[in-house]
Amino acid sequence: MKIVILTGAGISAESGLGTFRDVDGLWTKYDLKDVATPQGFARDPGLVQGFYNARRENCAAAEPNAALFALARLQKQTGAVIVTQNVDDLHERAGATAVHMHGSLNQALCAACDHRWPAPAKMTPTDPCPKCHAPATRPDVVWFGELPYAMDQIEQELLRADLFVSIGTSGTVYPAAGFVQIAQQAGADTLELNLEPSDTASAFDCAIYGAATEVVPRWVDTILSE
Ligand code: OAD
Repeated sequence: MKIVILTGAGISAESGLGTFRDVDGLWTKYDLKDVATPQGFARDPGLVQGFYNARRENCAAAEPNAALFALARLQKQTGAVIVTQNVDDLHERAGATAVHMHGSLNQALCAACDHRWPAPAKMTPTDPCPKCHAPATRPDVVWFGELPYAMDQIEQELLRADLFVSIGTSGTVYPAAGFVQIAQQAGADTLELNLEPSDTASAFDCAIYGAATEVVPRWVDTILSE
């Protein structure tokens, strides 16, 4: 059985990383237009770098939780594909590999020549690119208005899926919010695991609601025992 999993901020929440749209979420404290758009970066690169420096610091201090370890176990035993909207590295630190469609906090990107390199703990807008030396360093994260990464690869995985599972995402941001329809139209069963019904809940065949560290390990145990 080919399993394709989409994760969002809810899977990292119990590791202490903030989600975006919950009460106290990051988008209640910051305007996403200021810190997650190319226009915001052009207006105030220092503010944007400061925002992602703080995210990187939070991430470095966090530890993977039981839901992330359970998905790594599932991937090792079934070859499940994990696509994540998260820019943290908690899937990897739990022992899994994930396709990071919204990029990665641990990578820096040169806006002038597209060179990528490991991000330092703190980046500033005037850091020079190690390759072309332009002072055009930005976090290698996908902002609103930019194309998510690896979309061709992800679409191929969705079209071949027998089971599509969405975990810890509010289903508000496209294209990820549309993956359930793509997989379903290609014949996959679909399952939502989330704290509460997401915006796309009605599109799923089944759902289990609860904290990720409870519902994900239980679901993984069920799949592995079948
Ligand atoms: P959201 O903050 O929009 O949604 C998080 C979801 O996780 C919500 O539906 C919560 O109910 C759920 N949740 C919270 N705690 C949970 C827990 N302990 N266990 C299970 N579920 C829990 O985050 P995303 O859907 O990931 O993009 O957001 C999608 C994209 O919007 C992000 O990748 C980011 C953001 O703007 C960019 O910045 C481009």
